[in-house]
Amino acid sequence: MKFFVDTADIAEISEMADTGLLDGVTTNPSLIAKSGRDFMEVTKEICGLVDGPVSAEVVALDHDTMMKEAEKLRRIADNVCIKVPLTIDGLKTCKKLSSDGTMVNVTLCFSANQALLAAKAGASFVSPFVGRHDDNGFDGMELIADIRTIYNNYDFTTEILVASIRNPVHVLQSARIGADVATMPPAVIKGLFKHILTDKGIEGFLADWKKTGQSIL
Ligand code: G3P
Repeated sequence: MKFFVDTADIAEISEMADTGLLDGVTTNPSLIAKSGRDFMEVTKEICGLVDGPVSAEVVALDHDTMMKEAEKLRRIADNVCIKVPLTIDGLKTCKKLSSDGTMVNVTLCFSANQALLAAKAGASFVSPFVGRHDDNGFDGMELIADIRTIYNNYDFTTEILVASIRNPVHVLQSARIGADVATMPPAVIKGLFKHILTDKGIEGFLADWKKTGQSIL
């Protein structure tokens, strides 16, 4: 399973990239606004921090303007992945860009039928939003499982990028289902490392090691 970080904060991305476990980055207009940075500048900087895909989202609603925005965004770096919303114009843009070999992430997916359309449009990634799905009384993980089944049924190569992840359990459930990617806020990635028994175990081992009076170096 690939791990992407869902932020446009350079310090957070650098910290995650330093672990060697980061496979990509996702941003959206809200995260860009939160960063307080210029969209083009910060996206270029992020693209230099990771080798994998960096999702940069168009904001136009019509196909022609989406294409113009995508043209500008894809010139930023080779690892830019154009993010488009799951609308008719968004999927039209996805089809056109993916036919040219451009990576596309179709975002704001809330149903398995929408995910089916994204795959038919040649998306590299589809982003179902599990947290927002849960918030509205639906089962986000049921959605991920349905998409997995449908993509397997037809050998679609579109990767399921689980988005709007709120906690480590979302990551565990996504991995059990066989989702391809999880994009997570930095706090959730850090939470994956943690276990109280790991901390207690280190404490015990170090206390005993001290008694030996030895040092490795
Ligand atoms: O990048 C899209 C997605 O991950 C947003 O998450 O927490 O705003 O629902 P959230």
